[in-house]
Amino acid sequence: MQSSADFVLFNAGQLLTMASGREPLRGPRLRQIRILQDGGIAVGQGKILEVGKSSYIRRKFRANKEFDAGGRVVSPGFVDPHTHIVYAGDRLDEFELRIQGADYLEILHAGGGIISTVQKTRMATSDELVGEGMRRLDKMLACGTTTAEIKTGYGLDTQSELRMLRVIEELDKQHRVDIVPTFLPAHAIPTEYRERPDHYVDLVCREMIPAAWNWYRTSRFFSKRVPFFADVFCEKNAFDARQLRQILETACDLGFRLKAHTDEFTNLGASRVAIELGATSIDHLDEITVEDIEQLAASKTVAVVTPTVNFNSGALKFANARALIDTGCAVALSTDFNPGSAPCPSMPMAIAIACRYQRLLPSEAFASATINAAHAIGLGESVGSLEPGKSADFVVFDCNDFRQIAYEFGGSLILKVFKRGTEILRDQIDE
Ligand code: NIG
Ligand code: FE
Repeated sequence: MQSSADFVLFNAGQLLTMASGREPLRGPRLRQIRILQDGGIAVGQGKILEVGKSSYIRRKFRANKEFDAGGRVVSPGFVDPHTHIVYAGDRLDEFELRIQGADYLEILHAGGGIISTVQKTRMATSDELVGEGMRRLDKMLACGTTTAEIKTGYGLDTQSELRMLRVIEELDKQHRVDIVPTFLPAHAIPTEYRERPDHYVDLVCREMIPAAWNWYRTSRFFSKRVPFFADVFCEKNAFDARQLRQILETACDLGFRLKAHTDEFTNLGASRVAIELGATSIDHLDEITVEDIEQLAASKTVAVVTPTVNFNSGALKFANARALIDTGCAVALSTDFNPGSAPCPSMPMAIAIACRYQRLLPSEAFASATINAAHAIGLGESVGSLEPGKSADFVVFDCNDFRQIAYEFGGSLILKVFKRGTEILRDQIDE
């Protein structure tokens, strides 16, 4: 007797299942990804029913809809675990200033950078912010991303930060890409608090974090059991490790999961604090010390690297993801899509850079961009790999060796994107 499925995909030359058990992949396991030759997937009610050889899947399941992948590569949809895509305006002038030698942190200190985006974002209407966010999610989806984290951080006052949360919720409602929200009121010191940053930190802890938690409890994310993160940008001209601790401890007590931007330009000792507080991920890590890498490897915290940022600034130095993996850390890859340091919607681009400048093998980059990225946003149980019970989110690439996706750059090999078993992006090639 055949079982019934809503949809069956078969004849995937390489089916990258990325199956990992319940934990992220770390150390040498990052390159031992599971690849099924001539694979098939059966989908029911948006979830994966079974993954196996094409012939077995077709024998076992009867489905109204079938798709012949023609021997191509099929992988889980990318999970982008670090983005800042709710904002207004652009930073084109800053782009030119930086080409001419200006420094990112100096621009921020002079009231530009993040602060200039805050001014434009506060002035924009919510509809405008939703509209721009939708367009950015479309671009990410076209690059194969099916789940993404989005941070606040361009409001920097209670009302504006809460409005960003509502915009993020609206994006989750309207867009096919699934969203995980992160509250980042400590992204920069707002101009109003420039001379008294500790007062801003007090406001964040006393008013903003509790208000955000109240919002979460009545939001769609809470009812969907999607976690809510708090994050801090720990950096010179932003927040120090003591302030990071104060903010993250306050958030943790309420129930937030934790993240932190650490060691991007300056090592302020923040990685250690965030690991100690049980952060789900710490992100950037360009300046992390050998001792902190060892501590990270011994913890459950995921190391999120953002090589698009270094690429965007023309830097020759990148986070040492090779050492992170070789020491045993669970590394994840993100675009950090934002208007200043990384205007990049594309996970394949992040993969291409990571393979060249951080010396990741294509297998390691894929694991970092899927299953480990899912763990970095607390969704390791529901997305990031092709395993029974998980969301049927997958990408069909126009090639038959997955390494091609890291090797070729600047174009797109994405043929189709499926979200919960439904085709949401199709290329004209085989129509
Ligand atoms: O992750 N480093 C801080 N935040 C962002 C940049 C945001 C911006 O420049 O607007 C980042 O790189
Ligand atoms: Fe960031």
